[in-house]
Amino acid sequence: LNLYVTQTVEVQSPETQKTLAEMQTKNAALQEQLAVQRQLLRELETQLHESQRTCAQLRTQILVYEGEMERAQGQLEAEMQNLEEEKNRVIEEAFIRAESEMKAVHENLAGVRMNLLTLQPALRTLTCDYNCLKRQVQDFPFMLDKAIAEAKQEICQVISEVSSANQELLRKYKREMNLRKKCHNELVRLKGNIRVFCRVRPVSQEEQDSAEAKNMLSFDSEDDAVLYLSNKGKIMTFELDKVFPPQATQEEVFQEVQALVTSCIDGFNVCIFAYGQTGSGKTYTMEGVAEDPGINQRALRLLFSEVTEKAPDWDYKITVSMVEIYNETLRNLLGDNPSEKLDIKMNPDGSGQLYVPGLTEFTVQSPEDINRVFDLGHMNRATACTNLNEHSSRSHALLIITVAGFNSATGHRTQGKLNLVDLAGSERIAKSGAEGSRLREAQCINKSLSALGDVINALRSKHSHVPFRNSRLTYLLQDSLSGDSKTLMMVQVSPLASNMSESVCSLKFAQRVRTIELGSSSSYRRHENSSTSSSPTHDSVEVTQFTHTHTHTHTLIIPVEKAQMHRF
Ligand SMILES: Nc1ncnc2c1ncn2[C@@H]1O[C@H](COP(=O)(O)OP(=O)(O)OP(=O)(O)O)[C@@H](O)[C@H]1O
Ligand SMILES: [Mg+2]
Repeated sequence: LNLYVTQTVEVQSPETQKTLAEMQTKNAALQEQLAVQRQLLRELETQLHESQRTCAQLRTQILVYEGEMERAQGQLEAEMQNLEEEKNRVIEEAFIRAESEMKAVHENLAGVRMNLLTLQPALRTLTCDYNCLKRQVQDFPFMLDKAIAEAKQEICQVISEVSSANQELLRKYKREMNLRKKCHNELVRLKGNIRVFCRVRPVSQEEQDSAEAKNMLSFDSEDDAVLYLSNKGKIMTFELDKVFPPQATQEEVFQEVQALVTSCIDGFNVCIFAYGQTGSGKTYTMEGVAEDPGINQRALRLLFSEVTEKAPDWDYKITVSMVEIYNETLRNLLGDNPSEKLDIKMNPDGSGQLYVPGLTEFTVQSPEDINRVFDLGHMNRATACTNLNEHSSRSHALLIITVAGFNSATGHRTQGKLNLVDLAGSERIAKSGAEGSRLREAQCINKSLSALGDVINALRSKHSHVPFRNSRLTYLLQDSLSGDSKTLMMVQVSPLASNMSESVCSLKFAQRVRTIELGSSSSYRRHENSSTSSSPTHDSVEVTQFTHTHTHTHTLIIPVEKAQMHRF
């Protein structure tokens, strides 16, 4: 570009002129191009300077970066060193821990090994035991069968031994029972077949406030067979077989008589009499009241339950009759015509037994039948008289229960009779000065109660002659009073002061009945004499006076017309 062209050409021709012009334009263009190129070069030179400065800047920057990098590397290296140390430490710790853990594990392992070693023999014995048990279990059914068979055999043997022992015991028991029965009969014979109880009725509500209700009677808490009576300043002591105080219940009274009642199932004949003055509680004791029945109903119910228990070995039939004896006339209370008079006759079968032709006998089969029988008896008794209360106190009422048993296995038969008698009032009629029909009633009562006393007396004294025929009552009850029959006299006593003299009479009667057999020989003989002298129209009466010490007795014989008192 720096080529300069300098030519002097002396040619002044047009051609040369034109070529010169062209050359000059070309030169100008080239001059222009050169200027542009110069400008470009300057620009490039500034650019180069710029680049050189930037380059120098970059170089210093690089140096800075390099310094930084060097520092960072140092840091990194230190960091790495730290990390390396840390790593080593951690590894060491982990190693130590692992080692100690390992040691523990080893120890455990040793323990386990040890355990294993000891367990092994235990396991061996267990296995052995197990096998043994297994064998035993397998053998058990056979052993059990064997044991059962042996036990069976033993039991059979023991049973046969026991049964033979039982047979022996049964034989002995029967022998003992027979002995016991004999002893009992002997005891009864010794004590006498006649028992005397006394029952004192309570003071009624109406009597409560009157002077009558004074305490004349007292009881012995230690001895239930003794009664004390204070009469006109004297204390009298009465000893009986049993004394029931006013608070004694119907049930308690029955408890004492139930053995007697059931003995008729065994074939005994039994009589239970309620004796005492009017209003002393005879009917209460025998019949009782609807809500609290007396001996009659309780006896029948007991007999029922007893015979039911004996079934089916024994077949029993219980029949009931009810009769009344008024003015020595026998009336059939269960018959169609209660006013019809009945007779007592000797049985034509030659057995020597008495019987009452036409007497109605009801077979009772249930407790309900008992009530029907009682209702009918009551109704018949009431229709035959105007005032039942008065009438009933002047007549004897008898409930006769027959218990006939048959044992189909042994062919054994029994027959027992239970006579429950509510006697007429025993009061002395001399006091009331009765006349006419009252006197006749009183004489009849007197006669029959005296006859009853005579019969009991003769029986206890074992007389060859017993005056049964002296009254309808004793004649009717002949079978049930003689032989090994049993008699209970329930002497009823009123607690009232105004009744004391009657109470004394009743208690003396009771005492006499009881002590005839056991009494002293003199009074015994005296009594025997008076008894044998007694006839159907007995004319003497014996009064025994007791002193409070009860040590000696006097006997008075007084004509009956004066005292109008039946004996005893
Ligand atoms: N233990 C007693 N408990 C309660 N009340 C009784 C008792 N005994 C008798 N009574 C009553 O006393 C009254 C007279 O008794 P009960 O009629 O039994 O006498 P009784 O001896 O039969 O007389 P009677 O000879 O006149 O027939 C009756 O009201 C009766 O209910
Ligand atoms: Mg009565």
